[in-house]
Amino acid sequence: MGIESSCDETGVGIVRGTELLAHALSSSMEQHVRFGGVVPEVASRAHLEAMVPTLEQAYAESGVRVQDVDAIAVTSGPGLTGALLVGVAAAKALALAHDKPLYGVNHLAAHVAVDQLEHGRFEERAVALLVSGGHTEILLVDDIVTGITLLGQTIDDAAGEAFDKVARLLGLPYPGGPHIDRVARDGDPTTIAFPRALTGRDLDKHRYDFSFSGLKSAVARHVQHEDRMGRTFEVADIAASFQDSVCDVLTKKAIDACLDHDVKTLIIGGGVAANGRLRQFAEERAAKAGIQIRVPRMGLCTDNGAMVAALGAEVVRRGLPPSSLNLPADSSMPVTHVVAA
Ligand code: KG4
Ligand code: ZN
Repeated sequence: MGIESSCDETGVGIVRGTELLAHALSSSMEQHVRFGGVVPEVASRAHLEAMVPTLEQAYAESGVRVQDVDAIAVTSGPGLTGALLVGVAAAKALALAHDKPLYGVNHLAAHVAVDQLEHGRFEERAVALLVSGGHTEILLVDDIVTGITLLGQTIDDAAGEAFDKVARLLGLPYPGGPHIDRVARDGDPTTIAFPRALTGRDLDKHRYDFSFSGLKSAVARHVQHEDRMGRTFEVADIAASFQDSVCDVLTKKAIDACLDHDVKTLIIGGGVAANGRLRQFAEERAAKAGIQIRVPRMGLCTDNGAMVAALGAEVVRRGLPPSSLNLPADSSMPVTHVVAA
């Protein structure tokens, strides 16, 4: 069983090996919309209210109860401390009450592991591109539990965060990614040549790193300029140009990482993996480079409990010792640290 509570989704998943038995989810997103971003205190309270009903839902869906599971895994980081604590406390209580081994696991590794529920076990080393509101990383995955290397990450905003901030500039609702994706379909991506950061002179030092805050400022400047000139700016064209800039850089660097490391499989996860243009770029470029793409279905790409269960199952399969019942929530848990002590 896996429990997730690192951000705004309360998730409980149950798996048997790579088979998904339950995928119960409760989201507090609606409570954050009017603030234009996730409010940590609101998220923590929502986890508290949703935890028991979500557990019950997972038991009902699978016909499996906590007494029947081999182990309990929980996201111990990275994420919002107060939010993580709710899941960690729930997992500890269940582990103690039912005498089950407890595993505190890494949220980012879980985003990669979840793909096994959809496409089967990883047969060989892979590169993973994680893109969501909180993360933008390229990982080299030799082994999902013992062999993750961080190749690069954003040095400022996450990719989803950039979508959300630019949507706001364009007067679109939060979370902005799906709205930009939709609006951009009617736009011309070649209208404005927005910057593609860390692809030019800085490439050597930041080959697999990203930066999106300059892009966000460029969009803001463009919108202000059009306003000052008394022109109504074309939301669809700006959205399409912005989206192309983000997706071009994300996919180019991910494919480069595959080629550099002689890797034939690219796994894409996180909420931004839903983006149509990202998928299009990725498919075109991967096909050209002879690389296979694995993207879990949307409900498994965004935060959920099944991904935690999927990673937990791999940890158990490797016979690693359980975490301590003193397991802390670790808001900045590094991705190389897959299981907490
Ligand atoms: O993985 P996720 O549900 O939550 C975390 O942040 O962990 O990702 C949410 C992010 C938001 O920033 C949202 O705007 C973005 O994913 N997103 C998208 C799309 N759907 C969701 N971004 C671009 N295009 C989309 N279709
Ligand atoms: Zn996530």
